[in-house]
Amino acid sequence: MDQVAAYLAKAVERESFKPLGMATGRTMEPFYEALIQRLTSWPAPQLEQLKRCWLSFNLDEYVGLSPGDSRSFAAYMEAQLGCHLELSPCQLQLPDGTAKDPGVEARRYGSALHQAGGIGLQLLGLGGNGHVGFNEPPSQPNSCCRVVTLQRATRIQNASAFGGSPDEVPEQAITLGLNEILAAEEIHLIVTGAAKAEILRTALLDPCSDEVPASWLQRHSRVHVWVDDAACAHLPLLS
Ligand code: GLP
Repeated sequence: MDQVAAYLAKAVERESFKPLGMATGRTMEPFYEALIQRLTSWPAPQLEQLKRCWLSFNLDEYVGLSPGDSRSFAAYMEAQLGCHLELSPCQLQLPDGTAKDPGVEARRYGSALHQAGGIGLQLLGLGGNGHVGFNEPPSQPNSCCRVVTLQRATRIQNASAFGGSPDEVPEQAITLGLNEILAAEEIHLIVTGAAKAEILRTALLDPCSDEVPASWLQRHSRVHVWVDDAACAHLPLLS
């Protein structure tokens, strides 16, 4: 979190603000809480400047959910970040889950990000099956923003936001591709909990593979990996 806050401080100071890449999920909640605490302790002019120039693009959104739906990632971002920093919805970009044609919306979202200059700093969580964003296995490193069908494992993993029922989790989502993610200037992957220890080891130490989409992060020159003790238990050099 310190590094992300330092990145934001530098961007404000230099008045050069590239879009941020935002992630959702339970892992990110304590991170956003700590980040808000830090940012709201900044001197008022610096914080005001940050609020003015904030622009972020989220990784993904469920197909079929509107921002008004409390289970949408748009609602998550508003609750976790937007309302605390008083950001307007257009400063927190997400794919429109209710677009009539999700494929068209995916292309629009990808090109809006491109037009905004691509991602500066990308935050990432890790799915239990090795996904980043909703790039489900198999995903190629050149995959672009698109509509994806979620694996059963992902719908089970994310069921808690849907009353615990995987069947209530939408079957499809729009996600930025690995292509857009890997084009970020720097990437911060945050992984916590024993349940992710083995997939994290695979992603970081096994050869890159479409079957473990996060493994393609090995190809990026500026990836920071933030873990707790449980998540790094299978990393021989760190445990
Ligand atoms: C979700 C999101 C990912 C997130 C991941 C981990 O499906 N699409 O961006 O990183 O799953 O979620 P959690 O932190 O709740 O384990």
